[in-house]
Amino acid sequence: MNADFATMSSFSADIATQSAPGKLILCGEHAVVYGQPAIALPLADIRAYAQVMVGTPGSGLRLYAPDLGREWIVDTNAEDPLGELALATLHALNAPHTDLALTLSATIPIASGMGSGAAIATAMVRALADWAGQSLSPAEVSALVYTSEQRYHGTPSGIDNTVIAYEQPLWFVRHTTAEQQIVADIEPITIAQPLTLVIGDTGIRSATRLPVGDVRRRWQANPHYYEDLFTQVGELSRAVRVALATGDLVGLGPLLNANQTLLEMIGVSSPELERLVAAARAAGAVGAKLSGAGWGGVMVALTDSTDSRSAVTTALRKAGAVRVLETTVAATSKRSPRSA
Ligand code: MEV
Repeated sequence: MNADFATMSSFSADIATQSAPGKLILCGEHAVVYGQPAIALPLADIRAYAQVMVGTPGSGLRLYAPDLGREWIVDTNAEDPLGELALATLHALNAPHTDLALTLSATIPIASGMGSGAAIATAMVRALADWAGQSLSPAEVSALVYTSEQRYHGTPSGIDNTVIAYEQPLWFVRHTTAEQQIVADIEPITIAQPLTLVIGDTGIRSATRLPVGDVRRRWQANPHYYEDLFTQVGELSRAVRVALATGDLVGLGPLLNANQTLLEMIGVSSPELERLVAAARAAGAVGAKLSGAGWGGVMVALTDSTDSRSAVTTALRKAGAVRVLETTVAATSKRSPRSA
């Protein structure tokens, strides 16, 4: 334990702890940046955590991320999106910038397409609000975190911060208003049958902004080609929504496979992802695709029985997955997003 950690460990008094889920994009990543619909799921059991503790007088606003081996004091001049978000949140809460220690951690693999950054940021905003004795609506939390996502990713669609803040399966469409404001239409979706998903991690860390920036450059050079691909992805998202609402898991599998083909054509897949996708399908997954920004990170396989779930898990490990996570997305019914 280093000296700074020892100091931080001596904080006492008021404590607030909050968490936020990871996320998976089931269909529509990348195309969503260009106005096509996408479907995102929160992962209730794979989460990020934030704890706020009152520090000793004069200790400042300190962030501590043991998973990253980082500890720092928020400096208003530094390039520090998380620190800026902490300050912006305290400002929004009308809470004085004070002596606080924030400890951030996650069971979500970092830079893997599962929204670790947005989940950590969301947990932090929620914990600060809790500490201040206030409640922020999902829309307010999402807006604060979106500002921070822009610092990391350049042109994020907003899907990650939205599904994590609302914490329910969402239909998400981003568009630009006449006033050039970027807004999102979100709707909760119906999931008639629980989804048993197996997530395979390539272990290759890839910052979202890299494939997103690369797609943007290629789209600028060849807009018709890419817009056609994005439109096809949008059509798949519509079909996936119907399959989810009707509980048609057999129909859902080929739609996920078709989304993978389009993501390969968009240029965001990788040999490692494709090896895992092929292994999952060969082991009995009804469908499999990369999830998130690609070039690394995770893929997701849909399974239809306990037997096929364990066969897919074994196959993914054999095919080189550094981590395999199993998760179930519960059936839901149509309702309004968590309100303000
Ligand atoms: C990243 O989780 C999803 C992308 O579509 C980027 C974005 O929507 O901002 C690749």
